[in-house]
Amino acid sequence: MRKSPGVPRDLLFLVVYCQTMPYSQFYKDKTILVTGGAGAIGRNLVEKLARLRAGKIIILDNLSSSCIWNIPDYQNVLFFNGDIRDENDLKRVFHHRPTVVFHLAAFFANQNSVDYPLVSEDVNSRGMLKLLEYCVISGNIERFVYTNTEGGAYGSDCTMPYREEETSLRLGSPYYVSKMAGEAYCWFYHNHYSLPVSVVRLFNSYGPGEVPGQYRNVIPNFIWWAMKGQPLPLTGNKTISRDFVFVNDIVEGILRSGFFPEATGTPINIATGQETFIYELAELINLKTSNPAGTRILQQRKWDTREKIIGNNEKCRRILQFAPAAMLDTGLDLTIAWFHKNRENIDRNAAFFPGLNPALDV
Ligand SMILES: NC(=O)c1ccc[n+]([C@@H]2O[C@H](COP(=O)([O-])OP(=O)(O)OC[C@H]3O[C@@H](n4cnc5c(N)ncnc54)[C@H](O)[C@@H]3O)[C@@H](O)[C@H]2O)c1
Repeated sequence: MRKSPGVPRDLLFLVVYCQTMPYSQFYKDKTILVTGGAGAIGRNLVEKLARLRAGKIIILDNLSSSCIWNIPDYQNVLFFNGDIRDENDLKRVFHHRPTVVFHLAAFFANQNSVDYPLVSEDVNSRGMLKLLEYCVISGNIERFVYTNTEGGAYGSDCTMPYREEETSLRLGSPYYVSKMAGEAYCWFYHNHYSLPVSVVRLFNSYGPGEVPGQYRNVIPNFIWWAMKGQPLPLTGNKTISRDFVFVNDIVEGILRSGFFPEATGTPINIATGQETFIYELAELINLKTSNPAGTRILQQRKWDTREKIIGNNEKCRRILQFAPAAMLDTGLDLTIAWFHKNRENIDRNAAFFPGLNPALDV
């Protein structure tokens, strides 16, 4: 019997690749602005866009919470060290006539905003408003994607798991309030100026690319302390849990929300729907880093009023046609491997000052 010639492996790979990434051709050759593109999520988004062969990826970032060594080095990536609040910087980047804008720049995050509420408001609300104005004036924007945080929509009185329809004004920190304002401005520009806006509500992101620091997330800080042999501080009791999303899935959600037409004009959760207890996370990180120091319980932070934060991802599955995977074990391995690879840079840039944040007084 004659064997059929079969499909070449490379072609097969390309077909599967394009099917799993419906946007794989969409971003090709486009000029794309990524504000906050040097940050933890932004640098991963930029890297993926570069690999998708976007024409030009313009990063606008003032490096206030990120590092130059962490910016992906590709020919089609153009870095502007500038501020979203600065007219000249906005003129410089809009001069390139981007058609897609991913707005990730933000004053990050809760404790930082409690310590510096005016800066939080200035960057996350006023800065965003300026950016939206430029998008409208440019008349060139096919899609504007805003990365809200779940906490900028769901307050302490919302039903768990959080659904997009039920929001609340009982928001725990100035950061959440300023991010909520950002989403509200998005809907105004969408309705009034017909700006095609997509809003994703991100749950806890983690993964390679996030440098630990005073105001950073729990996972990079736990890994950093564990690698130094320090006990991991648990703020609150053992019932505190979160929905952790690996950064590649966060990026996937952002790219899909910039692509699907149905994703405009409506907020979408990027969540796994899976619950991880923080004390279990700490034990797992201690195990993976061979840290014998264990954990220690600290007082709960006053703004941190929600024990459980879990997202419903039904809308993400329906509109964006994918669901972030619950892959904490593998995700942590990849993150720890990134720490080992970048240890020198991370040690140089991780900044912790005792005093303001009780979780840091180790
Ligand atoms: N990391 C998370 O778990 C998470 C969860 C929900 C939402 N988000 C949102 O996703 C986005 C990206 O988060 P991230 O974790 O990458 O944060 P990040 O702090 O790592 O990145 C934000 C970037 O914005 C830059 N920036 C800050 N102020 C700026 C300004 N005025 N002008 C220009 N650049 C400025 C910073 O230097 C940084 O590189 C943010 O908008 C954040 O609110 C993040």
